[in-house]
Amino acid sequence: MRNLDQHTITEAVLARQAQTANPRLKHVLDSLVKHLHAFAREVELTEEEWFKGIEFLTRCGHITDDKRQEFILLSDVLGLSMLTVAQNNDKPAGCTEATVFGPFHVEGAPHYELGADISNGARGIPCVVRGTVRGIDGKPVAKAHMDVWQSDEDGLYDVQHPEIGHAQARGIVHSDSEGRYHFRSILAVPYAIPHDGPVGDLLQTTGRHPWRPAHLHFLIKAQGYEKLITHVFRSDDRYLDSDAVFGVRQSLIADWKQQSDGSYIVEYDFVLNPARKGAADA
Ligand code: BEZ
Ligand code: FE
Repeated sequence: MRNLDQHTITEAVLARQAQTANPRLKHVLDSLVKHLHAFAREVELTEEEWFKGIEFLTRCGHITDDKRQEFILLSDVLGLSMLTVAQNNDKPAGCTEATVFGPFHVEGAPHYELGADISNGARGIPCVVRGTVRGIDGKPVAKAHMDVWQSDEDGLYDVQHPEIGHAQARGIVHSDSEGRYHFRSILAVPYAIPHDGPVGDLLQTTGRHPWRPAHLHFLIKAQGYEKLITHVFRSDDRYLDSDAVFGVRQSLIADWKQQSDGSYIVEYDFVLNPARKGAADA
């Protein structure tokens, strides 16, 4: 293969990777090459623009470490994360919808008894969170493993406070025999996603803000049901229609009600999809 030009190079690359043994990988790589080349042709990519793109990705790499994942953030703000979630979580009507995982989940969060305060010292207005976990048939799901995490009143997760060496505003509770759960935490507030790096520059250049509407994160696992990764959003939030990462679903919005003592309460009932026959449980 010599003298390849702009019209013949795509086929040449596809031919070069034709021996890829894994058929799924071959399909994905072939499609990636075709779309990348089509993109470069469509925008008539200049060499300067190509290098700016390389520099941008290099900056994403340099700022990424075990606490900061700029590539996931990039995928989030380009809508790729939510597209992938949406096309892989097509559940029957009535099931709780999935949304983005985000970068702030931590494996091994502390376990709490039902009713405990999972804020563990995080700053914020006290808030009770309660509801039920059921299957699509309405049957209560007992002992559902509910991993919850949220930011504090400054809009920061515990892992974004280097001085805090322990879990705050995150924890695991289990639903009771009737599928009910409740715990205490703090009021969810809107916050800006990390925007002091290349993804923040991209947002600014494109006239976008970095804000996410107030939400609680849930990762729910239960025997016989599909794993659910989702949020519950606050109905009075001004960013519901402009979430920086496109994660809002109408069905995930709940009212946070203020009590006479100034604290809040929010109720949300989760509906899990049964695991497909033969598929591994949550
Ligand atoms: C989050 O909700 O924690 C989140 C999601 C995507 C990007 C940044 C943060
Ligand atoms: Fe979040």
